[in-house]
Amino acid sequence: RCKQAIVVGCNDLARYSGSFENPPYSFTTDDEAKCRSSCKSGAKNVVAGQCNNVGCCQTSISKGMIQYQISHEYESNHTTMSSYNPCGYSFLADQESFKFRGVSDLNDPNFINRTVYDAPLVLVWVISNDTCANAKLDPETYACKENTTCVNADESGIGGYRCTCAPGYKGHPYLSPGCSDINKCTDLDSSPCSMKCTNTPGNYTCSCPTGYVGDGRVDGTSCKRQFPTIKVALGVGFGSLFLLIVGSSLFLARRRRIMKVATKNFKDEQIIGRGGYGTVYKGILLDRQIIAVKKSKFVDENQIEQFINELNILGQTRHPNVVRLLGCCLEVEVPLLVDEFISNGTLFDRIHNKDGTSWYSWSNCLRIAMDSANALAYIHSIPIIHRDIKSSNILLDDSYTAKISDFGASRLIPLHETHLSTVVQGTLGYLDPEYFFSSQLPEKSDVYSFGVVLAELLTRIRPLSPERENEEQIQNLATYFIKSMHEDNLFNILDSQLIMEATKEQLISISKLVIRCLSIKGEERPTMKEVAMDLGELWKQTTYIIPSENQEGTIFIDSL
Ligand SMILES: *[C@@H]1O[C@H](CO)[C@@H](O)[C@H](O)[C@H]1NC(C)=O
Ligand SMILES: *[C@@H]1O[C@H](CO)[C@@H](O)[C@H](O)[C@H]1NC(C)=O
Ligand SMILES: *[C@@H]1O[C@H](CO)[C@@H](O)[C@H](O)[C@H]1NC(C)=O
Ligand SMILES: *[C@@H]1O[C@H](CO)[C@@H](O)[C@H](O)[C@H]1NC(C)=O
Ligand SMILES: *[C@@H]1O[C@H](CO)[C@@H](O)[C@H](O)[C@H]1NC(C)=O
Ligand SMILES: *[C@@H]1O[C@H](CO)[C@@H](O)[C@H](O)[C@H]1NC(C)=O
Repeated sequence: RCKQAIVVGCNDLARYSGSFENPPYSFTTDDEAKCRSSCKSGAKNVVAGQCNNVGCCQTSISKGMIQYQISHEYESNHTTMSSYNPCGYSFLADQESFKFRGVSDLNDPNFINRTVYDAPLVLVWVISNDTCANAKLDPETYACKENTTCVNADESGIGGYRCTCAPGYKGHPYLSPGCSDINKCTDLDSSPCSMKCTNTPGNYTCSCPTGYVGDGRVDGTSCKRQFPTIKVALGVGFGSLFLLIVGSSLFLARRRRIMKVATKNFKDEQIIGRGGYGTVYKGILLDRQIIAVKKSKFVDENQIEQFINELNILGQTRHPNVVRLLGCCLEVEVPLLVDEFISNGTLFDRIHNKDGTSWYSWSNCLRIAMDSANALAYIHSIPIIHRDIKSSNILLDDSYTAKISDFGASRLIPLHETHLSTVVQGTLGYLDPEYFFSSQLPEKSDVYSFGVVLAELLTRIRPLSPERENEEQIQNLATYFIKSMHEDNLFNILDSQLIMEATKEQLISISKLVIRCLSIKGEERPTMKEVAMDLGELWKQTTYIIPSENQEGTIFIDSL
């Protein structure tokens, strides 16, 4: 853009002088550069927006000027026009930035501020007097660093070149090491891709996960789901049968004293699980009820009273998603806990045993997550803290309903053993980073651990994965999840089954919930109640039941 000398005033004149380098040349004469403004008929011919020698004049200055001087001269004093133009001004400004406002400029006492503070000057500068092609021949003096584009600066009038960052790069083109790649994929909300975004040097590529078609670009055809609509019709008969099953398990006869026998004297073949806390045996009572008996490894004498207290409360608590504690035995050497037996094993096993995962679906994941969150929220309201939330403490029954087990059990582990036991159990990946530093919000530690379980459920990645050991910081699923979310890599780590079944918004929404649960600061995490509510909202969006016109009252469950 051209730079200009501008005069504002009536009967005013600006002279400027300057010098050039190439070829060396300077001038001072009136005729070379003169800008004269007059107001022959007073203020009435002065027009806003027109800088054409009435009240305002402008002239462009020559390219390549390296020095200038500007002087303002009054052709007559302003006494006669003091009412509308007490002063005249001359200044140099960028052409685009000054707009003449007419008479209001002529008598504006603040006018100098408008020019001094608001009208910029543009300094045109170039590197040497060389062309790009020549300059590149000498890497010693070539000014453009890595990932830049060289531009011949012809408009300066003296040749030379300038450097800019190459397309898709940002940074300082003149400073070592140069411009760096712009990662367009980092911001999930303004990503150019609708689902998968992969950053490439200076660019990015969009793609769609399996089950979707399209170019993946937000400004293109995006990703469209490619699936046949599956409608499952469930008859009322089946529905009431289901209710019957649920009902009967809720009203299972209460047993007052369940102890002993059952486990065949703790034979190895009865073992159904081992953890840092102890060993779990399967047992069968005389009346054929199947139970799980936990034999503790550690006992912290100081905690026993509190432990019994919690057991008492838990024994009286009924929640469909909490494993029922049937009894305990504290007289013996190590405490024994007796729980109802949950048939389908731990969520951990079900998630990570890649075979037999027909149950794994968006609606099952969401239901398991929602049920567990509800159970935790309920127990927190008592209040009891779980202290050892992990997927191997969430059991699934034969209808894949989640049941949280091991409430209060971690009480029994002496504090100095906690670290040991968490290592043994692999609980390390679930551990709240604030855990050792703050005991002020212990329930928020459960929230953190629950966030890890959610991440595990959505990605089917183990909380601590040796496979990822070469990248130290992503060994830990929590960190890996946050990093992936931050880099808009979410759809590369979410399980493909979920990507196929859930909408993008649902997956982002649940992932944001995970991120909130994994906040470093306990107070920034939601409460379990809030988590349960958020999951409940998602659940509502996922399944809805449309009563059909079918006379027999068939209902259709349409899974989105
Ligand atoms: C301004 O000019 C008028 C006539 O042109 C003259 O009478 C007056 O003295 C001048 N004032 C100053 C301050 O020079
Ligand atoms: C001009 O701007 C400066 C700085 O903002 C301010 O201090 C000064 O009062 C202004 N002058 C007038 C006349 O408003
Ligand atoms: C650049 O300028 C220098 C001196 O100012 C001169 O010696 C040299 O020849 C010029 N180079 C080009 C390519 O114009
Ligand atoms: C990025 O790649 C697309 C095609 O994949 C291309 O059209 C576009 O021009 C590229 N952008 C840059 C800055 O290289
Ligand atoms: C220049 O771009 C390449 C490819 O994206 C990248 O590997 C290199 O680190 C970049 N240079 C700098 C200084 O960032
Ligand atoms: C889980 O339950 C289903 C149905 O009740 C059954 O078919 C399946 O074998 C069970 N899986 C395990 C691992 O127990």
